[in-house]
Amino acid sequence: MTKPVLLITRKLPAAIEARAQRDYDARLNPMDEPWFRSGAEIARRATEAKADGILIAAGDPLNAETIAALPASVKGIATFSVGYDHIDVKAAKARGITIMNTPEVLSFATAETAMTLMLMAARRAGEGERMVRAGKWEGWAPTQLMGVTLEGKKLGILGMGRIGRELANMARGFRMEIHYRDINRLPPEAELGATYYGDDDSFLAAIDVISMHVPGGDATRKWLNAERLAKMKKGSLVVNSGRGGSVDDAALVNALSSGHIRAAGLDVYDGEPVVFPGYFGLENVALLPHLGSATIEVRDAMGNRALENLDALLVHGKAPPHAVG
Ligand code: DGY
Repeated sequence: MTKPVLLITRKLPAAIEARAQRDYDARLNPMDEPWFRSGAEIARRATEAKADGILIAAGDPLNAETIAALPASVKGIATFSVGYDHIDVKAAKARGITIMNTPEVLSFATAETAMTLMLMAARRAGEGERMVRAGKWEGWAPTQLMGVTLEGKKLGILGMGRIGRELANMARGFRMEIHYRDINRLPPEAELGATYYGDDDSFLAAIDVISMHVPGGDATRKWLNAERLAKMKKGSLVVNSGRGGSVDDAALVNALSSGHIRAAGLDVYDGEPVVFPGYFGLENVALLPHLGSATIEVRDAMGNRALENLDALLVHGKAPPHAVG
C-alpha cells in the first residue's frame, strides 16, 4: 500500500522522525531550515509533494491565506503544540481540513516552567545568575538580592485548565493559597479548595502573583493591560507561560519600571521570536525562550500524539482523538 505523504515543517526528535519515516512518505526538514516561517513556502512544498497531511509546529503561519493556498490533497494538519492560535481553524474547516493538536502530555512540563518563572521572579534568580557570570559577585551579604517568599502568597491562576491545575498542585507544595479566574467554576473535586472569581476586578485585587494560562487570539489580546495591572496590589508578581499576545508589553514594562509590579517571569512573547525591547533593560524580569514543553520526555510524547492523530485520519480513515474546532 502506498504510504500517505506527510510534509513536516520542523526538525523533530529522532524517534518521531523515524516513526514518521516508517509510516509515511515523510518529507522532513532535518536542518530545521526556516522556510516554515513563510506560509507561501509551506503551501508550495505541500503542493509539490502532493501532501496528504502536514505536521507543523507552534508559530507556523497557518493563517487563512496559507490555508487557501494549500493543495486539495491535504486532509489534515497536526500541530506539534497544544496551542493552535497560529492556525485559522475556521478557514481549515471550510476547506474540509482537520486540525489536530497535542493536549495533556505537556501540562506538567508547562506548569513546571510557570513555577520556575515564579521562583525566578520572587527570588531574583536571573539577576543573581547574571551577577555571578559577570564576575560582579563580591560575596554573601545580609541585604544582597533580597526577594520575597512564595509561602503564604495568593497565587492567582488565570485560566484553570489542565496546565493551571497542575500549577495549583505544585504551588500547594510551596504553601501558596490558590485563587483562580475562569469563565466557569470547576467542580469541587477539581477545585480542591481553590477560590473562584467570576470577575476580573475582585480577582486582580485579591492576589499576590498572577500566572497566565489563557489561549492566544483576539479574545485574550492584551488582556493584562495598564488598567488591569493597576488593579493588582503593589509589589505583585506576573508570570506568563501561555501566549505572549495576552500581555500589553508596554504597560508591563511601565509597571515593572515603577515598581508597582515587583517582578515578572515570561516564557512567551507577542510576535515571537521578537521580544519587546523594553524588557531588556530591566533586571526585574526573567525571560525564557518559550521553554514550556521543552523536556526530552514531553517532546517525544507530543510527537507521538501528533502522529497518532495523523495515523487515525490518514492511515485508518478514522476520527482523530485530538481534533480541534
Ligand atoms: C504549545 O504546545 O502550545 C506550546 O506553547 C509549545 O511549547
